[in-house]
Amino acid sequence: MVPSTGYNKTRTAVFISGTGSNLKSLIKFSRTAKSPISIDFVISNKPKAKGLNYAKKFKIKKKVLNFKNKNLSEKRLLSILKINNIDMICLAGFMKILSGNFIKKFKGKILNIHPSLLPKYKGLNTHERALKNKEKYSGCTVHFVNSRLDSGKIILQKKVKISKKETETSLAKKILAQEHKLYPRAILKVFNL
Ligand code: GAR
Repeated sequence: MVPSTGYNKTRTAVFISGTGSNLKSLIKFSRTAKSPISIDFVISNKPKAKGLNYAKKFKIKKKVLNFKNKNLSEKRLLSILKINNIDMICLAGFMKILSGNFIKKFKGKILNIHPSLLPKYKGLNTHERALKNKEKYSGCTVHFVNSRLDSGKIILQKKVKISKKETETSLAKKILAQEHKLYPRAILKVFNL
């Protein structure tokens, strides 16, 4: 991506479904001088997503779209993004799959964070599967989004060691802490910074 000219940062929307801890870390990063992006919109498919509180706290516009009718929700979404001059999208715990048509409209401009060392453990229940397979390591990946689930070009990964006493909860927590550092670093990399 090419950074916006002058003092303008690239206008970015973050899509969430839940707690929004990655959203929080992205907002904090976006407000530092070195960030090439600003976070100008938060989209959630869940009206009760806790992460929506960060939009309120940091005075960022937000919209809930339930995705029950994906076609309709994506149409509304595209128009919201256009009206708000959004040029980049960060998926952060967004648990809906975007259509190929939507992705095409933001080609090369949608990033996702996934809690595994892709290409291992695409999809759901990553920690459960990594533990079941007695993996020694797991981690997180930031990648570009393409039309195949969790399969776009990898931008950055961070490996974490799985301990003998690891549980799904402890592993999720350990990886999440790394996600908060990895996503900003991946954004800097995308902008060649
Ligand atoms: C994060 O671990 C993220 O990697 C994962 O959901 C969690 C969201 O946490 N995303 C996926 O599983 C996407 N398939 P957060 O709401 O606190 O950022």
